[in-house]
Amino acid sequence: MAKQIDPCTLVLFGASGNLSRIKLMPGLFRLDAAGRLADDMKILSVGRSELSRDQWQAEIKGMLDKKFKDGYDQKVYDRFIARNHYHSNPPTDADSFQKMAAKLGDESIFPQNLAYFLSVRPTDFAVIVEQLSGVGLVDESKYWRRVLIEKPFGTDLPSAQALQAELTKYLKESQIYRIDHYLGKSAVQNIMLTRFANTMFEPLWNSEHIDHIQITNNETLGVGDRTTFYDATGALRDMFQSHLLQTLALVAMEKPADLTPDSIRAEKIKLLQSIRPVDTKNLNKQAFRAQYAAGRVCVGDGHGENVTGYLEELKRDGIESSHTETYAAVKLFIDNPRWKGVPFYVRTAKRMHEGNTAISIRFKKAPMELVAGQHQNWLTINIQPRECIKMEIESKIPGLDVATRTLSIDAPQRQQGDETIDSYETLMLNLMEGDPSQYLHISEVEAQWRLVDPIVKAWAEDKTPLHQYTAGNRDPQESSVIFESQDQFWRYSIELGGDKH
Ligand code: BG6
Repeated sequence: MAKQIDPCTLVLFGASGNLSRIKLMPGLFRLDAAGRLADDMKILSVGRSELSRDQWQAEIKGMLDKKFKDGYDQKVYDRFIARNHYHSNPPTDADSFQKMAAKLGDESIFPQNLAYFLSVRPTDFAVIVEQLSGVGLVDESKYWRRVLIEKPFGTDLPSAQALQAELTKYLKESQIYRIDHYLGKSAVQNIMLTRFANTMFEPLWNSEHIDHIQITNNETLGVGDRTTFYDATGALRDMFQSHLLQTLALVAMEKPADLTPDSIRAEKIKLLQSIRPVDTKNLNKQAFRAQYAAGRVCVGDGHGENVTGYLEELKRDGIESSHTETYAAVKLFIDNPRWKGVPFYVRTAKRMHEGNTAISIRFKKAPMELVAGQHQNWLTINIQPRECIKMEIESKIPGLDVATRTLSIDAPQRQQGDETIDSYETLMLNLMEGDPSQYLHISEVEAQWRLVDPIVKAWAEDKTPLHQYTAGNRDPQESSVIFESQDQFWRYSIELGGDKH
């Protein structure tokens, strides 16, 4: 059931950036079309360029035309465009925040509950909050004021804590919404429901029955034009630190007492804090990194495309050498009774043979091997591109002999006619509703950096050239060094037959 949303003004910093053009503006439009925006809700876009309101509205039209190629409802468009205003704050204008406060102060136009979306460079997060505070725009004595901080929240534990210290000079924890867009994906939100709304899974969800769990994000894309950002970041910080550890937390946490934000976050925090720190002395057995070399990847329509290697891409942009990983696989253990001894293999890579994000759970061997070659059961929760749950079971092959084969029970989460909602849409709605359950608490961010920092540091100190993998291929063979037992192997997408069993 739709929650009641207070009328509010969404103030969008970085409004002319890519995220805003591709996801945020179209997302807000769709929320409007779905009747999920309060009648008086307004959007104030903030950008560096000097633009009139008319010019900005024309830009928005361009964004919508590009996104919704099949057209859109004119009535919704008229309503949406009328919500939109623009404020230019060039860095050279010392009074721009004063001017913004004066503009927002017009109550006949702007509802006074304010939600800020900071889609800006991480170095600007604290500066903007300080400025907003200076002109009274985060004061909650009469209305609520919330600040959404884009990722990354820090680049390591000390910088995350420093950012937190800066923000909390002006904001209460309840005002800070740290985003991880994976938590807005419907298949990620389905993890908790799958586990706790079905009695058949919970009794098996532990070390007694589970052999190991793989959490995978494979992309066919390379780093594109983000070479400078990516080379300073790497796969571990870009994907593993938040998106994949958050996914792991949802897979492994205990059942929350209820579905309130506090209860859900409390269980995730407990889980993240019980992941065993990686033993950096034996890092080579626990983590593997690599870089993609030139190769051929599959593009959307099934055709192949020749692509250059990571180091060549860097050279093109003036970066001569690099020890940054585009492939990272890490083995983790969780020190609690439920998961004693169960390895969690978490991997992410660019330029793989397929783009797929999934949680694959392998169950232990059946107590009796009735037939030679009997396979272990797998349960896969596929996040994207296809949202589904798949169970693999052993079954007799009809006939005179006793032989088994693996059958797959495939339950698509998405049925015909279901809405396709982008993760940012859900999360922007939650921000306006004041529901932080799909946003990160600072303790989660800290626990994640605590885990990642030692690996980043050890890898930075190790100057041996990185293993190169051919773009468009599967995991490098050498990555299997992190497996606990020889019969473990990487699972790929959900189709049967492509994998070793
Ligand atoms: C971003 C990373 O946070 O997530 C990108 O910076 C990555 O490198 C992206 O490609 C993946 O998100 P999604 O939603 O496409 O799986």
